[in-house]
Amino acid sequence: MRLGVCYYPEHWPEAWWAEDAKAMAGMGIAQVRIGEFSWARIEPAPGRFEWGWLDRAIETLAAAGLKIVLCTPTTTPPKWLVDADPLMLAVGADGRPRRFGSRRHYCFSSDSYLEQAQRITRLFAERYGRHPAVVAWQTDNEYGCHDTVVSYSRNAVQRFRHWLEARYGTIERLNEAWGNVFWSMEYLDFEAVDAPFGAVTELNPAHRLDFRRFASDEVVRFNRAQCRILRELAPGRSILHNFMLLFTEFDAYKVAADLDAVAWDSYPLGALENFWFSPEEKRRWLRTGHPDFAGFHHDLYRGMSRQPFWVMEQQPGAVNWARWNPSPAPGMVRLWTWEAFAHGADVVSYFRWRQAPFGQEQMHAGLHTPDRRVAQGGVEAAQVAQELARVPDCPMGPARTVLVFDYEARWMIQVQPQGADFDYLRQAFEAYSTLRGQGLDVDIAGSRDPGLAAILARAALVVVPSLPAVPPGLVAALQASPAQIVLFPRCGSKEDCVRIPADLPPGPLKGLVDIRVARVESLRPGVREPVDFGGFSGEVQTWRECLETGPAAAVEARYADGSPAVVRQGRVRYLAGCFDAATTAGILARSARDGGLAPEALPEGVRVRRRGDLLFAFNYSGQPRTLQLPAADWLLGGNEIAPQGVAIAHSPEAPPR
Ligand code: GAL
Repeated sequence: MRLGVCYYPEHWPEAWWAEDAKAMAGMGIAQVRIGEFSWARIEPAPGRFEWGWLDRAIETLAAAGLKIVLCTPTTTPPKWLVDADPLMLAVGADGRPRRFGSRRHYCFSSDSYLEQAQRITRLFAERYGRHPAVVAWQTDNEYGCHDTVVSYSRNAVQRFRHWLEARYGTIERLNEAWGNVFWSMEYLDFEAVDAPFGAVTELNPAHRLDFRRFASDEVVRFNRAQCRILRELAPGRSILHNFMLLFTEFDAYKVAADLDAVAWDSYPLGALENFWFSPEEKRRWLRTGHPDFAGFHHDLYRGMSRQPFWVMEQQPGAVNWARWNPSPAPGMVRLWTWEAFAHGADVVSYFRWRQAPFGQEQMHAGLHTPDRRVAQGGVEAAQVAQELARVPDCPMGPARTVLVFDYEARWMIQVQPQGADFDYLRQAFEAYSTLRGQGLDVDIAGSRDPGLAAILARAALVVVPSLPAVPPGLVAALQASPAQIVLFPRCGSKEDCVRIPADLPPGPLKGLVDIRVARVESLRPGVREPVDFGGFSGEVQTWRECLETGPAAAVEARYADGSPAVVRQGRVRYLAGCFDAATTAGILARSARDGGLAPEALPEGVRVRRRGDLLFAFNYSGQPRTLQLPAADWLLGGNEIAPQGVAIAHSPEAPPR
């Protein structure tokens, strides 16, 4: 468990570097990430290089005992490069290039830019790849940030056609797969297919989905090209990329497959403000962030990382990019840091050492203020650095509850939502949050993870949010798993190319639960359908299904008209609608108990997480909270946790969660 920081030597007078490095080491920071926006300072004009400053910066940091994470600078191609090759720019859905003036202006499909990116990566890696202080590399920075995965450039359209040809082989097969007989949309050849935008009304969902898949594969290609160079020239160094929060525009599992470790950038307050949370939730968690927000991403990214995951950028104070930007409550920077370690992080690295007094992010806090004094975030980072000595490093064990996640499910529901507020990501997050509120540890696993069978084999509870196209490997892994399984509505409702399965949903899941989804409907906000569980009642909102059940399927709950709302067959439950939060919690808790787990509602705002023999507890609420934990051996804090407080215990005998 180590601390790191993001630093921009090029932003500060060289005379400050040595003092900064000394202060970092003095604060207990072990590593520094540099370089991701440095291209124009390294190569100020084509072919003219100024390596001296970066050489000296690296030596200065290394001399203070700091390890270095060096980034390839491809996220900010310099102006001279754009002027020489304007076709490297990404193009928006309005057909206009996304111009120079900020960052991430390149198109993933530009071969000429890819060459430039490889060239600069190679130069960086040749120079620093074997430097003893450079222990890890970050490729680019936040692929896809600012909505930059999908580009409608000429390059992208051309490469999309080749991608389609590789996927379908013949245009007839594409026409058949997409169902182009509908509305006379058949093509004569691949050259005739365009990017899906600008049509009069709804575009074919299969066309749109394939374009999303293609755009995602372009990110994989771009990243892979850099990884190849780094593997060759920076042997033994970990290669990482910093993924984003609530971001699903590319398939992170596929990008992660080329990396050693996955990192993500944690900005809980900015995210709370900018995403779907209700006004009440935004007020409630204003200065703490939602209590499951960081946890969800830790568990998501841990699940795709070969080595322990990192937080590459941790929010240190107010950010600048949300609509409103509150400061974290005192204690939150420390809490977020410890929470990342609780979920298995190896490194938590703060963004950034010092707030910049210029440029787009001058209102973004750092660990220090622009006048070189320590800010609140810096005080808390230093506190964690002190505390780290009291907590032993401990390997992460598998959780007994597994949530199955899938990027294509998100895209499939986005290209054909059927109900305006049906949101896959939100549903997955809320299911996760419900499980966590009951004290359960959760692993998040990709639906196509090659190790899925093994992951599900040791699970007690598997939750599958609405997954329209179910990969065959997942069906087999679910069948073989001893776990209780909860399938959300719309699971198995589509084939890969956005078609209704021949025998209707749940398609390939019929072997697990003997039902036929005969009819579905979406419900506008505020509409509620009561459901009777024989003893208590719940409600369905947003989405409702009408099921026919076979003899093996027992009905556990019914709608008012008698049609099944929850069906159970052996270990499997199928939900024929989206239930309100309390009812979902009840169903998941029951399934957890059926699986031999001991779910127990935690006090409001409290979260717990086990890492090996360690038990961590966090208090996101504004009140002190008392825990009834069997732990005797407290390493930090105790059963009474202050607001925004942290407690850590050595607790080998925690209940089965
Ligand atoms: C991240 C990005 C950083 C910085 C930060 C501000 O998205 O990687 O470069 O912009 O946000 O919060």
